[in-house]
This record gives sequence, structure tokens and C-alpha cells, in this order.
Amino acid sequence: MKSPAATVSRRQFLQTAAVAGAVISAPMIVPARVFGANERILTGHIGLGGQGNSNLRKFTNQAAALCDVDSGHLARAMKTTADRGRDCAAFADYRKLLERKDIDAVVISTPDHWHAKTVVDACDAGKHVYCEKPLSLTIAEGRKMVEAARSNKRIVQTGSQQRSSSNFRYACELVRNGRIGKLQEVHVGIARTNHPFKTSPPPDSTPPAELDYDLWLGPAPERPYNEKRVHYNFRFFWDYSGGQMTNWGAHHIDIAQWGMGTDDSGPIAVEGTAKFHPQMWHEVTESCRIRYTYPSGVVMTVGQQQPDISMGTKFIGDKGTIFVDRGKLTSDPGDIIQQPIADDEIHLYNSSDHHGNFLDCIASGELPICDVEIGHRSATCCHLGNIAVRLGRKITWDPAAEKIQGDEEASALSDRPYRQPWTLG
Ligand SMILES: NC(=O)c1ccc[n+]([C@@H]2O[C@H](COP(=O)([O-])OP(=O)(O)OC[C@H]3O[C@@H](n4cnc5c(N)ncnc54)[C@H](O)[C@@H]3O)[C@@H](O)[C@H]2O)c1
Repeated sequence: MKSPAATVSRRQFLQTAAVAGAVISAPMIVPARVFGANERILTGHIGLGGQGNSNLRKFTNQAAALCDVDSGHLARAMKTTADRGRDCAAFADYRKLLERKDIDAVVISTPDHWHAKTVVDACDAGKHVYCEKPLSLTIAEGRKMVEAARSNKRIVQTGSQQRSSSNFRYACELVRNGRIGKLQEVHVGIARTNHPFKTSPPPDSTPPAELDYDLWLGPAPERPYNEKRVHYNFRFFWDYSGGQMTNWGAHHIDIAQWGMGTDDSGPIAVEGTAKFHPQMWHEVTESCRIRYTYPSGVVMTVGQQQPDISMGTKFIGDKGTIFVDRGKLTSDPGDIIQQPIADDEIHLYNSSDHHGNFLDCIASGELPICDVEIGHRSATCCHLGNIAVRLGRKITWDPAAEKIQGDEEASALSDRPYRQPWTLG
């Protein structure tokens, strides 16, 4: 079912946009053709590996252009869309796709090291953006992505799709309405590193003919090609990703932030320990246990499955607990999760379709459920955890100034140089 925004009239749109302007800062300029039907929004898809194909299926009625630096992945996606009756243009370089004036929005499902550059360039080219989680590779990138969205008045939805699932929303509403009393702790369980490669790595080699490896690397440091560093495996190397901390933290820490009501702020101190397994050839943490202290005094602990932590998000108050994961919602006492949220209580943003919400917001001018600022703040929590365990010491964070306090080495890890000629903003 379409949300009301999908059938908004031009007059309603202008009224809504004027209201949204209080947040977005000015009415948005939206091409006339997007009024009335999400199907008339045209999308370009950048990155067509595992998640890119999943996203493509969600935008079957909008897809008009496809881009991947791997011609094999591109050909597969072209076939998928052709089989569904969509005649898409194919691109090897996303900058050419962004030149297409008829494309309203882009869907970015590249490895993480490309998210910031493609989001900023897309916003500058006037496109709205659905960008996969984790939003950024570094904290500094995330802030530039927010600025690009705001200065260009573009809708940017982060792909942390748990926000559009009723279980997660209801759990957070119960917490925010005090059903477990005063919130004291949050436990967040993330996956262990699942690197499929456990013995000696294959030798570096020449990149396969179908892959433009230089463009795959983009702003990441130059290094010889190795099949176990690209396509899915990028997750296990700092140059391209933050490991399971950012991969799963962008889901479950994101829900913790929602339940705590800290979508526009974050922790003030981060400390913890991690295990690294270089003999398994990956660089990111194998497992970790990280403690975040929030200004409210709430402590969030993030780690892999342990007796006190399960995959998902557990809120612990002085009168009860609520645990939520995909397909799971439990509470103690058990009847907490039977209680309706009354009309006069806090109701959180209600979306049941993450991709549809993005399209609706393009038409309405309203902020999407996982707006770029929210995605940036959740990713920041993940990055701070990685910085703390990589350096092995406590990090003090100022969430208002978005600065690490009194630690130059840690501050340096909140940004990173881009390989020339790539620059950001
Ligand atoms: N929301 C979710 O639940 C979810 C699930 C899985 C993955 N993801 C996210 O999706 C992203 C991609 O993950 P994946 O597992 O699909 O990776 P993948 O390696 O399977 O796919 C990435 C694709 O991007 C392409 N690519 C790389 N650089 C490019 C560029 N400059 N221009 C165009 N294409 C480029 C690659 O060739 C590849 O086809 C990651 O950020 C990941 O965290 C999200």
C-alpha cells in the first residue's frame, strides 16, 4: 500500500515542503514528473553485487540506469532488469550515470569506501540518494555527506532498513515511553567475523579482465589486486570497511540510538578490547567488547554473542528489559510487549517499507526514516568503537562538536586521505 505521500497533490506537496523546510531549511525543488506516482521516479543503481541486486529488486519499477566497475556484475543486473521489462542504460563509471538529467535518484550499494564520494557527487548532481549502510568509512566523511545533502536539499536515506520494521519501532517506543522504567544499559550483539578464508591467502595477481580494479579502489590506497580483498571480502580490510562493527553495528547500534533518543548526538566516552586474528589474513577485529557512555549516564555495551549479549539490541531499565532482533521481540516482565502505545504517548517515525519511504519522501520533501544525519551518527558510534580498540585506549568524544578530545592519534583516525586524484567535497 502506498503512503499518502505517494499520491500527494501539488498543493499538498508545497504545503508539506514548506513545513519540512523548517528542518531541511528550504522547500525542495522536485521535478514535476515525480508528483503523483513513485513509479515515475527514475533511479540509477551504482554497485550491483549482493546488496545492489537486492536493492534493484525493490526499485524494479524505477530502475533506468545501472553502473558497476565489474562488467560481469553489470551484465547480470542488465539481464535481471531486462527480464522484468525494464530497458536500462549501462555505465562502467558512475560519473557518466550522474550526468543523465532524467535520473531523479541513485541507489548506492558499493563497498563502504565509495559511499561518501558517490553520495556527495550525486547530491551535487541534483540526485536524491538511497545509500547502503554503514553510511561512511570515516567520521569526517559522514559529516560531509550530511552537508552535501543539506546544501543541495536532497533526500538521503541510509540503508539501515531495520528502522522500517514494526518490531524495532515498537521496542523503541516502549523504551522511550518509560515501560522499562529508567533506561540504564543497552546491550548490542553483532556478528563475529565470518571471513571464509582461513588458511594462507592466494597470491596477488593481475585483475580479471571484467573488473576495472583502479576504479574499484577509487579513493582507497593503491595496492596489488588480490581476489580475496574485493567483492564481499572487502569487509575484512580497513581500507574499505570497518568489519562487523560497522557492518552489523549500522543495524543494531542504529536501533540502540533510536531507543535512547540520541539520533542527533552520541556517546561521550568509548573504551574496550578486541581480538585480532592476522593469521586469518583479515585486518578488522575478530571480536570485541566495547563500552559506550552516554551523557544521560546510560552505558551501551557492544560485542559478539556472550552469556549477557545476544545478536540484536537489549534495553535494560530499572523496571524491566526489552530485547529486539529480526523476527524476535521479548520483554521481562513479559506483558510489556503486549501494551499498546496510547495516542498521547511518544510515537516514532512509522515506516513499513524502507525503499518506499525513500520514494515517498522524494515526493513529499519530508526527511526519510533513516535520514543521512541518523546514518552518520550511528556510523560514528561504530567508528569510535573501532578507533578505541585499534589504539587500545579510552576515547573521549564531544558529540556536539563531533571531535575526539585530547588525542591526536585517535583524531587522525576519524578521517583518512584519499588516493589522488580523488577528493571529497
Ligand atoms: N542493508 C543491508 O542489510 C545490507 C546487506 C548487505 C550489504 N550491505 C551493504 O551494501 C554494500 C555492498 O555490499 P555487498 O555485499 O553487496 O558487496 P559486493 O562486493 O557484493 O558488491 C559491491 C559492488 O559494487 C561494485 N563497485 C565497486 N566500486 C564501484 C564503483 N566505483 N562504481 C560502481 N560499482 C562499484 C563492485 O564491483 C560490486 O559489484 C556495503 O556497504 C554493505 O555494507 C547492506
